[in-house]
Amino acid sequence: MRTVGWDDDRDCVVMVDQTKLPTAYTTYHAETVPELVESIETLRVRGAPALGAAGAYGVALAARRNDAADVESYREAVRVDAEAVADARPTAVNLSREVETVLDELRRCATVEAARDRTLAAAREVADADVRRNERIGEHGATPLADGDTVMTHCNAGALATVDWGTALGVVYSAHENGKDVDVVVNETRPLNQGSRITTTELLEYGVETTLIPDNASGRCLQEGRVDAVVVGADRIVLDGGETFGDQAIVFNKVGTYKHAVLADRHEVPFVVAAPHSTVDTERSADEVEIERRDPEELREIYGTQNAPADVPVYNPAFDPTPMELVDYLVTETGVHEQPLDREAFAVERGVKAAE
Ligand code: MRU
Repeated sequence: MRTVGWDDDRDCVVMVDQTKLPTAYTTYHAETVPELVESIETLRVRGAPALGAAGAYGVALAARRNDAADVESYREAVRVDAEAVADARPTAVNLSREVETVLDELRRCATVEAARDRTLAAAREVADADVRRNERIGEHGATPLADGDTVMTHCNAGALATVDWGTALGVVYSAHENGKDVDVVVNETRPLNQGSRITTTELLEYGVETTLIPDNASGRCLQEGRVDAVVVGADRIVLDGGETFGDQAIVFNKVGTYKHAVLADRHEVPFVVAAPHSTVDTERSADEVEIERRDPEELREIYGTQNAPADVPVYNPAFDPTPMELVDYLVTETGVHEQPLDREAFAVERGVKAAE
């Protein structure tokens, strides 16, 4: 099943409930916009491309739940709901971008009936396009991998972070399809453990040899020479580093990514980012990207058990910025871009080829 999709019988959004992994593989139906917003906030659905699809379906859901006496008021009601969906999480650009894609379709509709049909069709297209892109990312990224290689990954950039197949893990799956036996070292990815709960579950499901490590052991694994490449996804890539980073592109991804890029550099292991062009934000600089700060309780407690003094101050950013100078290869659906990234050519390619 796809990570996020549309249930035609119940006329609502359906998703794999990732908060229940690894002990249960269940689905959750978001019948209303507030239920979808809550699902995004609590990470039932998560990962940049999956959030993009959830956002797209969210506008369709709003279009199907709202009604009004005239089409102008109807459009405004849907827009307000769509804004709540887009604002549910701030860092992955895909969420607000794909909400906007489907809102564009809504603006072109002259009647409520047309809007209900065409927003859903547009959302389905967003989801289908994600799968097509990931397959291409997988093919491009798998080419340099050799039989017997070990890949380290952080967080979950697999099928469950996208509509299907994945970006970083899509590279591993494509390598396997091409007959290369690639195994994966998975960082647990504290504090929400997307690595241990989600990545290991899906890798084992796909039949990939998998080793789970605590986040703190990643340096040791690189030191031991156990890793041939570190491959991660991205939540947002900006081409302008702003005042903080200067004239270079920046990759925002799960907190800890930066540390792994530095470690990979130190140990001369290729650091690879696999992401679709839809994750690239050409409008903002790094200074303008909001890094989500999550609930202190995620650290003060572990699965409901106290893990720290109840009043200890906590800093819990969900993402961090990695300068592109630390990224050896940026893999998109249009190919493999080597360091140093030619940002102008990349932006042109993004506009021209990604639309194909
Ligand atoms: O907080 P999450 O689980 O939504 O964070 C997800 C990540 O950081 C992924 O690496 C990223 O979205 C890429 S998914 C293909």
